[in-house]
Amino acid sequence: MQAPERLETYGHPIILIGLMGCGKTTVGKALSVLTGMPLLDTDAIIEEHSGRSISDIFQCFGEAHFRSMETALLRYLKQHPTPAIISTGGGIVVRAENRKLLHRLGFTVWLDVEVPALLARLARSTTRPLLNRPDRQEVLERLEAERRPLYAETANLALPSTHLDVHGAADCVYAAAKDFFALRS
Ligand code: S3P
Repeated sequence: MQAPERLETYGHPIILIGLMGCGKTTVGKALSVLTGMPLLDTDAIIEEHSGRSISDIFQCFGEAHFRSMETALLRYLKQHPTPAIISTGGGIVVRAENRKLLHRLGFTVWLDVEVPALLARLARSTTRPLLNRPDRQEVLERLEAERRPLYAETANLALPSTHLDVHGAADCVYAAAKDFFALRS
């Protein structure tokens, strides 16, 4: 996989959004290689700054507190724009302020993957507090129904990626980002 030419984002990031397991981090890593831009992961930054795992934060302080941490981080990134690939937590779109910030931050792409594929990919995951329960399928279906309009509202591009492999998805995002930033320049 070779980038044909350098991608000019005029100092702005490419942001990946979508449900847990949709490939934000893996596609983000491939995009980071392709573009030469660093990969920032909002969950990892929050864990690093708080010194706690996402599961701990949910357990000790609750989901609302975690959402506030996501908002604070997005406000910071909006004030300090950086050319990076940003992989986000699946629920970052739940807050209206976050949706607005994400939409204005750079080029925001929704990796839209169907629930059965998500379930298969998440089969061995133990680090997602919202899925630490036996009825994972119902939970994911509910989250999908609730969040689909929110991802659609937030994204500059909705990429159906159930049948794309990591490099296929990264190539699509790269090509679309080139057009997006060329038109905005
Ligand atoms: C969440 C998704 C997780 C993480 C937290 C909550 C969600 O991130 O932020 O467990 O609400 O969908 P990933 O989408 O990277 O798994």
